Amino acid sequence: MKITVIYGTGRKGKSSTYHIAQQFIEELSEGDSVAEFFLPQAMPNFCRGCWQCFTDYTKCPDYDHLKPMIEAMEASDLIIMTAPVYVYHVPGQVKAFLDHFAYRWMPHQPSAAMFHKQALLISTAAGAGTKSTLKDLKDSMEYWGVARTYTYGKNVRAADFDGVSQKIREEIHRDVKRLSPKIKARAFGITPTWKVKGLFYVMRAMQKKFGFNEADVAYWKAQGWLGQVRPWK
Ligand SMILES: Cc1cc2nc3c(=O)[nH]c(=O)nc-3n(C[C@H](O)[C@H](O)[C@H](O)COP(=O)(O)O)c2cc1C
Repeated sequence: MKITVIYGTGRKGKSSTYHIAQQFIEELSEGDSVAEFFLPQAMPNFCRGCWQCFTDYTKCPDYDHLKPMIEAMEASDLIIMTAPVYVYHVPGQVKAFLDHFAYRWMPHQPSAAMFHKQALLISTAAGAGTKSTLKDLKDSMEYWGVARTYTYGKNVRAADFDGVSQKIREEIHRDVKRLSPKIKARAFGITPTWKVKGLFYVMRAMQKKFGFNEADVAYWKAQGWLGQVRPWK
């Protein structure tokens, strides 16, 4: 399975989240390509709110940073995103990364390729907050049109991986072994969840009825989505 990983921080050896991601990658890549990007290095800027992306995403002032990440994600079967919990949510650099993809949300110009992909979202906390952090990530995956999104959150009770107890390490190992086959089984020929399909149809009706943004309507028309074409077929 071709994988793109967007790591929420630049931590490696000391990071619990990174270690969990490595275990999943080992189970899932099966020798296929793995493209890795570390935030904030890979996308060091905040969204400026210039709205350029809504008419032409290549005009984003940060497009040089985004281009390799967009290309890697488009070419992957699986997108893995990691985020340690920072004050109950994703670290700021992860939010900054996601903000750059507002134009790819379903009410605007979602990429048809996303409807054929899976996403795995991984979060760790010392004690609490993975649920809200994973939701931060999952909202974007579903509104991007990603067919199926899996979440894995773990309270590791530690500031770094060295401090994670043997018991928790074993739990993580067991969880990785349990979840990976589910992702592998759906690796190819995937269809979106009812929620993702439902979002598509709601947004389609909005484009037809209201057509708030000319560029969005033109995009939906060009894809054939206002007619018979569906992005998952
Ligand atoms: C700025 C900051 C904020 C944090 N906020 C929380 C929090 O809200 N809840 C929590 O349980 N742990 C919190 N933590 C602890 C980390 O989420 C936890 O140690 C996590 O496993 C670190 O992941 P990493 O080892 O991959 O860097 C915070 C850590 C930092 C540095």
